[in-house]
Amino acid sequence: KKDPTLEILKMLGINFGLSVAAGFLAYYLMKQYIPIFIQRKLYGFDQCKSEKLPVPEPMGVIAAAVYLIFMFLFIPVLFVQWIHEEISFPYVRLLSLLSAIISICTAILLGFADDVLDLRWRHKLLFPTLSSLPLLMIYYIAGNSTAMLLPVFVREFLSTTYLDFGFLFYIYMGMLVIFATNAINIIAGINGVEVAQGLVIGASIATFNIIQIFRLEHSLTWYQGLSLCIIGPFLATSIALYILNRYPAKVFVGDTYCYWAGMTLAVVGILGRFSKTLMLFLVPQVFNFLYSVPQLFHFVPCPRHRLPKFDSEGTKKLSMSLVQFKATDLGLLGRLFVWLFSTFGILYKREFMKDDERWIEVNNMTILNLILKFTGPVYEYQLTYFFVIIQLICSIVAFIVRFYIARLFYEV
Ligand code: UD1
Ligand code: MG
Repeated sequence: KKDPTLEILKMLGINFGLSVAAGFLAYYLMKQYIPIFIQRKLYGFDQCKSEKLPVPEPMGVIAAAVYLIFMFLFIPVLFVQWIHEEISFPYVRLLSLLSAIISICTAILLGFADDVLDLRWRHKLLFPTLSSLPLLMIYYIAGNSTAMLLPVFVREFLSTTYLDFGFLFYIYMGMLVIFATNAINIIAGINGVEVAQGLVIGASIATFNIIQIFRLEHSLTWYQGLSLCIIGPFLATSIALYILNRYPAKVFVGDTYCYWAGMTLAVVGILGRFSKTLMLFLVPQVFNFLYSVPQLFHFVPCPRHRLPKFDSEGTKKLSMSLVQFKATDLGLLGRLFVWLFSTFGILYKREFMKDDERWIEVNNMTILNLILKFTGPVYEYQLTYFFVIIQLICSIVAFIVRFYIARLFYEV
């Protein structure tokens, strides 16, 4: 009989080789496509530079295309060993992989459409919700659990070990997909920051999968391995993109990359059954989302761009971008949020009189502006570094929570 661990290692080896090839191909193709993007008027202007040169956007679509090609190539590698075994062929595993690819494809399409057409909010929300359906259906067919292991001290109260969330768990997974597809896009606007998120979170997931493969019994390791195989080429193509997108950016990643990355991370979290651990890696994104809620839902005015403000005349540094409005323009909730955030010291706020009316000025509510509130003006590449360091620290803390602190509540 075949040794399952050896099988997984072989599969990972091949995946690693293919990923490296994908990375090189993506880099080579993106460089080739730079003039074509410009010629086709697919570009944006870098808002944090003195010179306004066109920067090709969305270059993420090339990286994503190369990623898909290598995922397709990888399907036979995974399943060739069962090709003559009609009865024991693991159809559900194949379907899991295919449904993952469907969801990822849809995210890429949505992202590209958004880059070209600037989609409306409600269309952006409906599409990923529906595109997660195949994935959730396969999750159901595969008989995957919707139950959550309860912490030891809660078990005594409820006299049960598991709490089955049933249908609610599917709603949770659907919401995770919507959240993840948008979470990266709203921490954006300075060179390298979008891809850096994909890289740090993706690498954290890969590390987690490797640890789990050596810890768990066989039935779960296959899905950890699958997750690793989906993340591998994603990391490789992201590195290629990062080389071109880091400061000073030669290309922009576009919404295509943001949605693709978010969906890929969500999909592996669901398939690999570690969506709660994934949420630990996403803490900066969750924070940024909660902090953005007043502006996203228009309780506080939200300009088209919330990226930090570049001082093109003097220091060439970035500082918080601000938004001004009449005090009377704020509703009850808006006033509540502004009061709450500024009381906790996480919002810059200034009041002034103009034309006999009271005006309020606050910073745009993003984590990047919040960092700038504490550091003061810094150069663009420094701000990216600060953010990446925060993301890294969160990943390290996530591992400590997952493997040490969780032990106090669960016997993991
Ligand atoms: C999201 C953010 C928006 C932010 C924008 C920046 C929310 C709700 N939306 O909008 O606040 O301003 O991303 O990407 O939070 N750009 C740069 N430097 C970069 C990357 C992008 O200047 O390193 C600029 C370029 O002009 C580029 C544009 O941002 O063309 C892309 O913005 P887009 O992706 O269309 O914005 P949104 O995703 O709608
Ligand atoms: Mg965007």
